[in-house]
Amino acid sequence: MNQVLVIGSGGREHALCWRLAQSPSVSKVFCSPGNGGISEVAECVPLRNTQDIIRFCKDNAIALVVIGPEQPLVEGLADQLTAQGIAVFGPSQKAAQLEGSKGFMKAICAKYFIPTAAYGFFTALSEAKAFLKDKNYPLVVKADGLAAGKGVVIAANQKEAEDALSGMFGGLFGDSGKSVVIEEFLQGEEVSYFALCDGENAVEFGYAQDHKRVFDGDEGPNTGGMGAYSPAPIMTPPLRETVMQTIILPTLKAMKKEGCPFKGVLFAGLMLTEDGPMLLEYNVRFGDPETQPLMARYDADLYLALLACSKGGLDKVKISFRKEAALCIVMAAKGYPANYEKGSVIRGIDKANAVDGVMVFHAGTEQRNNQILANGGRVLGITAIGSTIAEAQEKGYKALDLIDWPEGFSRRDIGWRAIAQAAAII
Ligand code: AMP
Ligand code: GLY
Repeated sequence: MNQVLVIGSGGREHALCWRLAQSPSVSKVFCSPGNGGISEVAECVPLRNTQDIIRFCKDNAIALVVIGPEQPLVEGLADQLTAQGIAVFGPSQKAAQLEGSKGFMKAICAKYFIPTAAYGFFTALSEAKAFLKDKNYPLVVKADGLAAGKGVVIAANQKEAEDALSGMFGGLFGDSGKSVVIEEFLQGEEVSYFALCDGENAVEFGYAQDHKRVFDGDEGPNTGGMGAYSPAPIMTPPLRETVMQTIILPTLKAMKKEGCPFKGVLFAGLMLTEDGPMLLEYNVRFGDPETQPLMARYDADLYLALLACSKGGLDKVKISFRKEAALCIVMAAKGYPANYEKGSVIRGIDKANAVDGVMVFHAGTEQRNNQILANGGRVLGITAIGSTIAEAQEKGYKALDLIDWPEGFSRRDIGWRAIAQAAAII
């Protein structure tokens, strides 16, 4: 039996810990730092730095470290653990550049003919501004490095693009904006597609659709994601095969050839355009909230699948998802994604969890004196399983309405696109 350590504190990590705790080959799950809900399925341990993590892994014979967020991956945590002989789920620092540098990702796509938006890459403001002349708008301006989801501007005209560039080169995102990608605006529907990779093999690991805007009807500013469902009915079997053959497998081969084989989860942010699926971005970790419906549906041994990404032999591991649909509705603190208060009391989570087929995952929460307090922007993910997305949606909102948290809010239309598509088919 194996002990596992998960790094992170979001809804994604709660869903991973929850599913890992049910894995027949796992005896115990630890999470650093964890949150108020994770502590019900894993022991939360506050490990402050890499040395702490290494010592903890050795003292507790940790069989696998699962790294949730992108920041530690881009900073090389996987390499440091691997160097100590500790098995880790997550790519090396070099391979994590697929997310950590948009310029790196675009250069791989260009060199290996992976379908993505046409682009230019710039390290000087004057050159970037010169590129803007005589272009068709909108155009998309992206800071090269990590920017907490805020480094992408859809510029409606040249002035907006210039302003975005001035902000980025002016230090708005620190070093992340010292170089930029400017790319063609693509039209279509967005899908999150996941593939587990062991450096040699890639296996589809579900797909989902997120809701990035804060308000109903996809209005308001972008967020980390206000809700998601899986599977996404738009992803027909031929489309999934096209994504695997034209995007995922060429990337896996490219990374090996470039001397940085990819191990972990490749999360392709796709735009389904009239010309076929195109890559908007790569993330080198699981999506949040997408992982919440994904884990609600996953029904094989998660530990064995994640371990195989580290050790190889992914092609021989059983990976399977329940046929039912799952849908996650995010509850956030009022004011998110801008300013919001922390510390308000949330009641009724037990009642919501008691609804058949519902699991409430915690993101920004803290347990104190037997109470659950809000401790972040996105706070809860009410996740429901149903025979259809419409049924999962109904159950999800029924559970959500049992939660007593006046300082929180959610969208009321999560799943609208898939439900409209299903209605159109009937
Ligand atoms: P990214 O971080 O690259 O995924 O960008 C964040 C969001 O910006 C995406 O989820 C899309 O909604 C949008 N976006 C990024 N690139 C493009 C593009 N080339 N065309 C249209 N929308 C884009
Ligand atoms: N939900 C999108 C992301 O995790 O980046």
